[in-house]
Amino acid sequence: MMYHRHDAIIVGAGGAGLRAALEASATAEVAVLSKLYPTRSHTGAAQGGIGAALGNMEEDRWEWHMFDTVKGSDYLADQDTVEILCREAIEAVYELEHMGLPFDRTPDGRLAQRRFGGHTRNFGEGPVQRSCYAADRTGHMILQTLYQQCIKNGVRFFDEFHVLDLLIEDGGCRGVVALELATGDLHIFHAKAVLLATGGFGRLFKITSNAHALTGDCVAIAFRRGVPLEDMEFYQFHPTGIYKMGILISEAARGEGGILRNRDGERFMQRYAPTLLDLAPRDMVSRAIHAEIREGRGIGGKDYVHLDLTHLGRDVVEKKLPEISDFIRTYLGIDPVKELVPVQPTAHYAMGGIPTDVDGRVIIDEQNTPLPGLYAAGECACVSVHGANRLGTNSLVDILVFGRRAGRHIWRFVREADLLPLPFEPEAPIRSEVSRILEGTGRESVADLRRMMQQEMMDKTSVFREKAGLQEVLDHLEELRERSRKIRVQDKGHSFNTALLEALELGYLLDLAEVTVASALARTESRGAHYREDYPKRDDVNWLKHTLAYRTPNGIEFRYKPVVITRFHPEERKY
Ligand code: FUM
Repeated sequence: MMYHRHDAIIVGAGGAGLRAALEASATAEVAVLSKLYPTRSHTGAAQGGIGAALGNMEEDRWEWHMFDTVKGSDYLADQDTVEILCREAIEAVYELEHMGLPFDRTPDGRLAQRRFGGHTRNFGEGPVQRSCYAADRTGHMILQTLYQQCIKNGVRFFDEFHVLDLLIEDGGCRGVVALELATGDLHIFHAKAVLLATGGFGRLFKITSNAHALTGDCVAIAFRRGVPLEDMEFYQFHPTGIYKMGILISEAARGEGGILRNRDGERFMQRYAPTLLDLAPRDMVSRAIHAEIREGRGIGGKDYVHLDLTHLGRDVVEKKLPEISDFIRTYLGIDPVKELVPVQPTAHYAMGGIPTDVDGRVIIDEQNTPLPGLYAAGECACVSVHGANRLGTNSLVDILVFGRRAGRHIWRFVREADLLPLPFEPEAPIRSEVSRILEGTGRESVADLRRMMQQEMMDKTSVFREKAGLQEVLDHLEELRERSRKIRVQDKGHSFNTALLEALELGYLLDLAEVTVASALARTESRGAHYREDYPKRDDVNWLKHTLAYRTPNGIEFRYKPVVITRFHPEERKY
């Protein structure tokens, strides 16, 4: 057993974790643990840009950005937090510029900006150019820039360390237990503060833009350790994933003028969102695509539509969208300048997650009581700025703004707080879980169980949902959980035992699937990405509130807390 002591532990080396590490390391001694090599984190897959009302291309204001974010969220976002997001976005972008991030520029040298879904001028009048970008590799550039800065600041990295438990005792967090992939050894990391920044859990679904690593490990671990999960019923499907593969085709493609077409070549978004068209918020565009497919207007009657970039010209496609052009050539074998691209909605982003306040402190109830020493930021957290549906570009804003705020709070906290003693035999629960899996002699395969869960979630818990289907998924999940107790892993070794890790990840995914479906079943209305066919209307009288789901010995229990409304009052959501 290896023991480490640091002021603060950051779990996850994507944008939120690195931004927090950079801030906290100004005075605190910080270690970052990641199950990946840091620059392989999923932030690197973010393509289109960061929304910030710089007003470099045309007039823009942070208040308009705030209005769009609140309206896009279907009024479920907390408006005090959205105000922080949109105000601080501007500084967050300039900070990255000063760190050396190679943004695209206007001819006169300012940061260039482009259109993105749901971002408008003057409170919804028409699209605005708000997304700052580095071609369609914005997330990749953020990751490289922040990683370099962290190295410069002396942040210590533990690469390929998979966190398997959170050490929470007497209401305070005291560290984590991690497995070193190269050796299979367990390590105890003892710290005053722990920040979870582990990203999302798109691997719940069959078709997803998320990398294989996105299995929600620390979200599930926090849930198991008594932390509630907020608004888990809201899961976003991005309208344009490569057909059958789910690989992201950035909304920037539509921001640059790309058009969605059905089997008749019709620009069908004219019927669904006459003002914003193809750049309406993602929940609306994904539903429109599904509606076209259901009504037989998918391409060749199949379950996809076309993204048309052929009118943009080679210069725009190659210069502004080089990454997706490569993807299209590599995975589909077609030239996007000459041919239509087959796309379908792909599971992309969790609006819900571990509840936090605006300083990243994890909160555990409807009174916003913090759990001392535990923080979360980025997609694994729910602060809540995205409400029921996130606008494109706002995830990068979220990781920067709230990663920085969490990092800043951590360095203040570790200056004042005492190091709490570790629980007795802190690694014991994980050691026995690992042994149980390695010694299992059952006949079930992890890959089969995962595939069944992903198919079921895709079929009945994606863009459209209804009571009977959701109940069927819950019943099926119970059966899969039972079967997961009888798995056998082939690899019994210690070094890079990915079979063991996949078995552990399956457990996390099953937990998160259950809480997602149960939360969706409980919410009898439609709002943002949560569309109940049996309750097609938004119901502000009964449901303008956040879900808090708790894991109890009697199953999942729900509590609810009010939405913070400051400037914008709920209204009809038309575009
Ligand atoms: O479409 C995209 O480039 C994705 C951006 C986002 O999810 O914010």
